[in-house]
Amino acid sequence: MKTKRLDAILSILSDLTDDLASSLPAESLRRLFSLPAGNRRFTWPTFRIGDLVAPVPVVQGGMGVGISLSRLASAVAEEGGIGVIAANGIGLLEKDYYADGRAANLRALRREIRAAREASDGIIGVNIMVALNDFHELLDVAIEERADIVFMGAGLPIKGIPVERMRTAGVKAAPIVSSVRATEMIFRMWKKIYKDVPDAVVYEGPLAGGHLGFSPEQLDDPEVQLEAVVPAIVEALRPWETEFGRSIPVIAGGGVYSGSDVQRVLSLGAGAVQMGTRFVATEECDADPAFKQAYIDSTEADIGLIHSPVGMPGRAIRNDFIRSVEAGTRPAFRCAWQCLASCKADNAKYCISIALNNARRGKLKHGFVFAGANAWRVDAILRVPDLIGELAIGFREAAREHLAQRLQPMVDGIEKLRKRYASIQEQVRELHTAYSTALEKRIRSMQDIGIDGIYERYESLRAAARETQHRITLGIVDAWALIRVEATPDAGMV
Ligand SMILES: Cc1cc2nc3c(=O)[nH]c(=O)nc-3n(C[C@H](O)[C@H](O)[C@H](O)COP(=O)(O)O)c2cc1C
Repeated sequence: MKTKRLDAILSILSDLTDDLASSLPAESLRRLFSLPAGNRRFTWPTFRIGDLVAPVPVVQGGMGVGISLSRLASAVAEEGGIGVIAANGIGLLEKDYYADGRAANLRALRREIRAAREASDGIIGVNIMVALNDFHELLDVAIEERADIVFMGAGLPIKGIPVERMRTAGVKAAPIVSSVRATEMIFRMWKKIYKDVPDAVVYEGPLAGGHLGFSPEQLDDPEVQLEAVVPAIVEALRPWETEFGRSIPVIAGGGVYSGSDVQRVLSLGAGAVQMGTRFVATEECDADPAFKQAYIDSTEADIGLIHSPVGMPGRAIRNDFIRSVEAGTRPAFRCAWQCLASCKADNAKYCISIALNNARRGKLKHGFVFAGANAWRVDAILRVPDLIGELAIGFREAAREHLAQRLQPMVDGIEKLRKRYASIQEQVRELHTAYSTALEKRIRSMQDIGIDGIYERYESLRAAARETQHRITLGIVDAWALIRVEATPDAGMV
């Protein structure tokens, strides 16, 4: 088992430390050489956005047209993550959507936020697409209902954001971005217009499900993968953190599937991950069971791109509906009210909101399922607490393995020095004997058998011993410093 490796390394390090600690004068230092409370210390770090504290650093990505409503969001919040209600197309749950789409959207969003609050005391967010024609009204509802945080994607949330009202109501703001450039532009403009900046940033990478902020050609480019962009956004936010005197965490997602993925993304500098696909495959997900079953039934080859009428590519499970759209054989449809500003409804071969709503209701012949690149790996529908539990275990194992990999060379180095120290000590003892013998010879027979030479070698070996011991001490201190950073829950969080 992988986790045994860390135990073995820690046991060697503990022996080396005991050896050293017995010779250390500082009592306070000795206390730092210990692994606090065993495995529990390898749990994931708490995620903080200002005064919002999520014990589980997982944001359930907002999933539009009824996939993430109050049931899923409250279940995630209840487990300690951030649960998110998607406002996009939420009015399609209402009977009067075709009569008054705007009113239906606002009513349904208000009801879902209240229902989620009723079901959980945890953190509830709302996801609103900037490209929606009723973006500002939906944002007003989220503020009135005091959602904890609003995620704003599919466009740059710059103009007309009621920042002051959000601050007064205690509603945090997090733009969803697809580049460092977009991040910087949003922050610069917010500072100029509002003298304030957002509270967190979400980077949705190219493996995500749903609409993507990249061209199809960009998707495989190493420069847009999480590994490249997350550290760059973290770096770009530093001056803003200093200027505004608060930490601005990055949330990153797209393809995050296992606990070890969570560990990998957090080690890039993200404070939390955003996950969609895994939450679709839960009992609490608000979609019809047929929608979830489509994930289980899908193969890797089924996951592909669609050209959305919104003007962006989207990742979905390709089915006959999509193929018939591409072949131009879909019947005409009636646009209810131009819900998306960028939608070319006149030229579109179908209404994406209706298609997604049909899929939500399990009518897959009349719609399709958005899905992340890893959706084909789903083979069971879990309960949210079980999914979070699985992620926690995977995270812990990956964190332990990651630490083991970094500690191994350090402990090997200390052991080598320890051997060297022992061999020097042995030579010192031998020289000590030789020195005594030389002294005796000098007293008894006035014979000098190189006593000065022996003394010089003795002194230089003792200096080498002291130097080696110093290096052992530093090695052990550095090893424990690393353990403290990696094994403490709040590691890296300010
Ligand atoms: C079914 C589905 C619907 C989605 N709808 C939205 C949406 O309405 N707004 C949004 O910002 N992101 C949406 N997303 C993206 C998710 O919020 C999340 O960022 C993404 O799924 C993360 O990638 P993953 O699926 O690989 O975990 C959707 C994703 C899926 C799978």
